[in-house]
Amino acid sequence: MAKFYVTTPIYYINAVPHIGHAYTTVVADVLARWHRLRGDDVFFLTGLDENSVKTVRAANEKGFNDIQTYADSMAKVWIDAWKSLDISHDDFVRTTQERHHRNVYELFERIKKRGDIYKGGYEGLYCDGCEAYITEGELVDGKCPLHQKKPKRVKEENYFFRLSKYQDQILEHIEASPDFIRPEARRNEVVSFLKSGLKDVSITRPGLDWGIKTPGDPTQTIWVWFDALCNYLLPRDYWPADVHIIAKDILRFHCIVWPGILLSGGYKLPKEIFAHGFLTVDGKKISKSLGNVIDPAYLVKKYSADVIRYFLVRGVSFGQDGDFSEDSLRTRLNDELADVLGNFVHRVLTFTRDRFGGKVPQGKLDKKLEAEVHERVQKIEQLLEELKVTQALEEIMAIAKRGNEYFQSCKPWEAIKSEPEKAASCLLNCANLVKVLCVVLTPFIPSASANLAKQLGVKVNSWKQAKELDIKPGHRIGEPSIIFTKVKANDPAQAHPNLVSIDDFGKLDIQIGMVKSAQKVPNSKKLLKLGVEVGGGPRTIVAGIAEHYTPEELVGKFVDVVVNLEPAKLMGITSQGMLLAAEDEKGISLLVTDKPIKHGSKVR
Ligand code: MSP
Repeated sequence: MAKFYVTTPIYYINAVPHIGHAYTTVVADVLARWHRLRGDDVFFLTGLDENSVKTVRAANEKGFNDIQTYADSMAKVWIDAWKSLDISHDDFVRTTQERHHRNVYELFERIKKRGDIYKGGYEGLYCDGCEAYITEGELVDGKCPLHQKKPKRVKEENYFFRLSKYQDQILEHIEASPDFIRPEARRNEVVSFLKSGLKDVSITRPGLDWGIKTPGDPTQTIWVWFDALCNYLLPRDYWPADVHIIAKDILRFHCIVWPGILLSGGYKLPKEIFAHGFLTVDGKKISKSLGNVIDPAYLVKKYSADVIRYFLVRGVSFGQDGDFSEDSLRTRLNDELADVLGNFVHRVLTFTRDRFGGKVPQGKLDKKLEAEVHERVQKIEQLLEELKVTQALEEIMAIAKRGNEYFQSCKPWEAIKSEPEKAASCLLNCANLVKVLCVVLTPFIPSASANLAKQLGVKVNSWKQAKELDIKPGHRIGEPSIIFTKVKANDPAQAHPNLVSIDDFGKLDIQIGMVKSAQKVPNSKKLLKLGVEVGGGPRTIVAGIAEHYTPEELVGKFVDVVVNLEPAKLMGITSQGMLLAAEDEKGISLLVTDKPIKHGSKVR
């Protein structure tokens, strides 16, 4: 039994999962399911990176006093999202778990014993988005190109890891193992970075309350990337990983820092790191401020997990950048899943039911067709071994397309009158093609494949079944039903994921408020404490707008206030309402009235 250990990155919990995270996770799932079907001993690990300053910031912004409570609530959201997408991970690691902490300590101690940790100082830039130091040379217009934010300048004492010591060894390994980093463009990127010379990296940070404390020095917290990368060692019996699936954004951490840590700790290196491209949504970067973060759970509800999985693997060439849009998803659903696959299998099954009493008829297997299918299945296998998931799915759909052509050219609905054996043979061959499809589609669209297998009256439990055209005359099929229904373009009003009724909207009490006082909240960059006069008298409102408005410019403004929001405590101050504001990539703009109106007026 071959072993197959596959991982995804462990995701940050400062936000909900989006289609980009779903992409990585679905591809890893396809590989895990394929290897299981082949009979391999599979371990598929995913999870969450919780010990970041991003977690603390998000928890504060959302009014949580206890960070762990926030982390637990986010973990539920991520776990539910993966469940809805039929993700079949074997374990789900959370870096706040004790077992993970033990793992991190062990690795830390091992590299310390190796003499690879020393105390030093760092002065320079740190990007909170990357959770890493960044050099002046990497900035574009003074900002981190990935997160579009100005990094902060820090001067700190930390413990350093002697990464530079492993530069040559890492380079030699990459050169000796062509598949260690793929695709090739990413490999070249890593090689040229290595050749430009490696610096040691700081692996602890001072002054952080949240995170794993450094063994022997509680004033220092272990750098979140060191902490996070260790997660991969958790299923120790399966190490080394067969493949780490990541995107290009975190290439260097995985291809340089991680191998350095492993070499120092005396562990084997992962067999492969595959960095896929980045997804945009409707041609734009996925970002909260652009409002294009699509919740995979919403898409699943609207279309089904299989449709989303199919689109991601088929519509975004694995390794390249790609785009997600509901329009292109619908096109793939209508033109491929419904028109090609759904149409073929439904024709075969309903014909068998209606004209042959639900039993596969007596006929002859077409040897040419059989050879062709064998060849395609072999090609699919080869492509999956090479992680070419998009091409593998293309090849699978070619079988369905071929099936449609075959059915069409045999014309069994005519042949049944004049040449009944021809019609019978056609159906026998087509039933076998449907069976092959049930098997090869299982890793990609598991629910629809299981449904189809039931309709055909077969059980799929091994990839080998894709090579056996063993549906015999007399085989009884189940009840046919449509597996993919076409959908029309959206009515924009209906398309919204969260429609509310007018009654629900009416529950909101929004009033015009006059800002009477405003001051900064001590120790907070974002929060202002406002005194606002509304219908029932003065209110204290804490608003996250300090980076966009000075206290002085707010006093006297007539703003829109939700006055019946549950009070929330922010930095120890109870906020009794919320100001309405709009946000785009340039910043925040408060909703104000365009002519004088009495405070307390109702907004509808
Ligand atoms: N916590 C770190 C990873 C630590 S792994 C030891 C992190 N987390 S993340 O939440 O930012 O996830 C980054 C990963 O999410 C990417 O590498 C990729 O797998 C996935 N994606 C996030 N946005 C994506 C796109 N827009 N497109 C494709 N994948 C995306 O980095």
